[in-house]
Amino acid sequence: MFPKTRLRRTRSTPELRALVRETEVFPGDLVYPMFVDETISIPRPIPSMPGIFSYPLRRFVAEAERAESLGVPAVMIFGVPKKKDPLGRQAYAREGIVQRSLRKLDERTNLILIADLCLCEYTSHGHCGVVIDGRVHNDKTLDLYGRTAVSQAEAGADVIAPSGMMDGMVSAIRAALDDAGFEQTPIMSYSAKFASSFYGPFRDAASSAPAFGDRRSHQMDGCNLREAIREIELDIAEGADIVMVKPALPYLDVIREARRSFTVPLAAYCVSGEYAMLKAAASSGYLDYDAVLKETLLSIRRAGADIIVTYSALDFAEKKHKEERG
Ligand code: PBG
Repeated sequence: MFPKTRLRRTRSTPELRALVRETEVFPGDLVYPMFVDETISIPRPIPSMPGIFSYPLRRFVAEAERAESLGVPAVMIFGVPKKKDPLGRQAYAREGIVQRSLRKLDERTNLILIADLCLCEYTSHGHCGVVIDGRVHNDKTLDLYGRTAVSQAEAGADVIAPSGMMDGMVSAIRAALDDAGFEQTPIMSYSAKFASSFYGPFRDAASSAPAFGDRRSHQMDGCNLREAIREIELDIAEGADIVMVKPALPYLDVIREARRSFTVPLAAYCVSGEYAMLKAAASSGYLDYDAVLKETLLSIRRAGADIIVTYSALDFAEKKHKEERG
């Protein structure tokens, strides 16, 4: 006890502080989510997400190359198709926008290509699966998820990331991938994905807002921590290689609990609304963006996430490189 113990001793110089530092964030921990949009011919800014664009395919590769050159190892790909229909056929079409993008990125970069897998961007009703009598039908949706996973893997996806929160989606996708000879392709499951208002800006970008109803019959109720742990447990049992909690900041306790309970690699998705908050406060001059960004990412790592999916990935990497160059 004081005066023998003085915690300020190891805080007294930058060198000592660095020596006792418990947590750090590196560009290598980050995944950059990107939108490729078949309906546009020039990059389209997303108004609620300053600095983030949807890209036509011919500009998409250049932005991905920027991620690679900044040392961000992975991109997560979302597609916006020209044609939508009730069964989301463009999600599993050979010439779908995501499939074409994957082939291009596979050819031009060494990035880890993570394909988001959901139907909501591809269905005319904006729901994450097959709608029957006004409800998303779980098991009929699983067949389409399996087909989508295989078509993404064939096109060059390195990781399949199902985000639809259907029961049994990981085992259905694992079986479909294995049948098609992709037993080496990992699944990163959005295991504990909460029904969140923080997805608002994303739905504008991906034009994926549901035409009627909401996603509360499959995404999780934000009140439940134990249920989130059950979701993750089931996904691991079904063969998920990496599990995810989403959103990140409002669910740091879930990340913490998942880290304590499981040994699998854990990802956290710092979502569109979280990005929008920081950017809005910064543009009003209320907060220093780079400083609060670093603190935000640190909180997610400290809670226990190994991997962070964030729209700020390139901002963070750029700043880090500047600091290193002095
Ligand atoms: C579904 C999906 C969503 C997000 C990622 N995958 C939206 C939703 O569930 O409505 C949200 C990501 C974000 O807000 O950044 N394909």
